[in-house]
Amino acid sequence: MNHLKTGEVIGKRRRELGLTQNQLAGLLNISFQAISKWENGTAYPDIETLPKLAAALHTTVDALLGYSSVTTDYDRRYTTEEYYWGLTPNRICYDIMKILPPVKPYRVLDMGCGEGKDAVFFAKCGYEVTAFDISERGIEKAKKLAEHNKVEVTFFKADIYDYRPDTEYDIIFSSGVLHFVPQTQRRELSDSLRAHTACNGINALNVFVEKPFITRAKDGSRDEQKRYLWRSGELFGYYYDWLFHTCKEEIFDCNSSGTPHKHCMDTLIAQKVEG
Ligand SMILES: C[S@@+](CC[C@H](N)C(=O)[O-])C[C@H]1O[C@@H](n2cnc3c(N)ncnc32)[C@H](O)[C@@H]1O
Repeated sequence: MNHLKTGEVIGKRRRELGLTQNQLAGLLNISFQAISKWENGTAYPDIETLPKLAAALHTTVDALLGYSSVTTDYDRRYTTEEYYWGLTPNRICYDIMKILPPVKPYRVLDMGCGEGKDAVFFAKCGYEVTAFDISERGIEKAKKLAEHNKVEVTFFKADIYDYRPDTEYDIIFSSGVLHFVPQTQRRELSDSLRAHTACNGINALNVFVEKPFITRAKDGSRDEQKRYLWRSGELFGYYYDWLFHTCKEEIFDCNSSGTPHKHCMDTLIAQKVEG
């Protein structure tokens, strides 16, 4: 275990949540100097403080200690042979195809690809696809699906907290994932996605939105504690200067946890058109 890394993780998560050292200290009922020492790597949280610290930072003790192989609740959902989200591509995939049909191997990035149904669909249609998810089990199943369909997709495990593209894409796509990104990180994430989108390229994204009249569904999972609903319209603002093909908000019924509930979702398909 690398103690300095633990300090770095604490500092990074605290900043992502927009907390000052004083505010985090207040949540834990300790001095801000203790937080400062942890983050500098000159002292370490004691064993009894770790679970409270993990809860305050909306993360796990494993993640604080720098272990990357944290099992997510999605890993558990993805343990069966069946595909948890089915194999029918998301309807946004068809909307994307209408704007950039695969007349050449456009480069697609699918962020939070789950078990890979959309990534494999794009690859089957002739796109050049890269896709990641935090769930190791999801990535294993996605690779299997690509193999079964005899298509090449670059799948890898990554966390959207730290992952930023290092190359350009024509289509950046993400469905049902961006509520795992805290509000304080969204401007920086969207700046990076925009910068790594080719001219005339597309960002196709959807986000779960908070509405006072919709009760938040509780499934009791650990992942649930890491959800940060978006403000209505927030997503659209980050792309105000792009061409909007789809910009909509809808409320729909869901039964994913076994308890019927409703979600509100904002969907944006925007194109980087340069004047
Ligand atoms: C609702 S599912 C959507 C999966 C896929 N996009 C689809 O539409 O079928 C949410 C996905 O986000 C992934 N996820 C959750 N937190 C993540 C993170 N921090 N980084 C990357 N992926 C994450 C989960 O493992 C899960 O596969």
